[in-house]
Amino acid sequence: MNMKLILALLLAPAIAFAGPPAPKTEGIEGKGYKWNEQAGEKIEALHKKGDIKNGEEVYETCAACHLGSGAGRPDGTFPQLAGQHSTVLIKQIADIRGGLRDNPTMYPFAQVMSDAQELADVSAYIGKLCIPLGNGKYEGKDAAMQVAKGKELYEKQCLECHGKNGEGNKEKFYPVLAGQHYKYLLRQMVEIKEGKRRNSNPDMVKIIKPYTEDQLIAISAYQASLTMPGAMCKDKPKKK
Ligand code: HEC
Ligand code: HEC
Repeated sequence: MNMKLILALLLAPAIAFAGPPAPKTEGIEGKGYKWNEQAGEKIEALHKKGDIKNGEEVYETCAACHLGSGAGRPDGTFPQLAGQHSTVLIKQIADIRGGLRDNPTMYPFAQVMSDAQELADVSAYIGKLCIPLGNGKYEGKDAAMQVAKGKELYEKQCLECHGKNGEGNKEKFYPVLAGQHYKYLLRQMVEIKEGKRRNSNPDMVKIIKPYTEDQLIAISAYQASLTMPGAMCKDKPKKK
């Protein structure tokens, strides 16, 4: 663990004055609400031009877990963020702040952004970072087989939204998957399938429901192998 992370974890209880909000249902499909309802600071942030310089300052708090490069951790505890669409970042952070996506570890730190402008700033900054090489991959002896099996499954039902190279879609809030850690991808897919990531796109939830764990392992192995031409960093990360 690095010093910044230790510091962040020590500080967490002090910053967590209010604790995570009670789970909400607004903005989640059903009961008269729609997925990704555009309201409050989410729509405000989406309409603002992000100030990358201020975003870089705000990001210092985030770097304790997600690292300065945005790479997160190959073990998947902290996701890779660099190069993610700013719209996706705004949606996910606003949902976490608003109690639509549970993330107790990060919740206190998500409060450092004082308003919609800072949310736009940090999202613009992260979105401009190149995607680091060296993300966590599927490491079994049967990796080649899993990746091939995952490719076939991915191209059938996932490519349509997440793209051939895992590039997602900025306008539609579909996340970039290229360069993401294998274990994070698998954990998110299981949570989306089981309804635990409550802010998830209902069409994706429907599609992923019938997938078995073995199939999700194969798809995660394939997704973690994807690269987006032009968006990847040039160098392997330095050993710290
Ligand atoms: C104490 C560690 C910690 C800090 C500090 C932190 N995060 Fe996170 N963040 C996490 C964890 C853990 C997750 C994944 C939670 C999960 O598994 O659902 C996450 C997830 C995210 C996601 C969702 C990624 C995705 O693919 O959907 C975004 C966006 C994000 N963080 C942005 C930020 C920003 C911006 C900051 C700084 C303001 C920040 N985080 C600070 C731990 C942290
Ligand atoms: C209708 C479009 C759509 C389809 C089809 C779709 N997804 Fe998604 N996916 C999304 C959206 C939107 C999100 C972000 C969740 C949210 O907040 O709604 C997402 C999130 C994810 C995530 C989490 C990414 C992150 O950064 O946390 C993974 C992994 C994923 N999808 C994999 C898949 C797989 C595998 C399939 C095929 C079985 C699939 N998706 C099909 C739209 C789609």
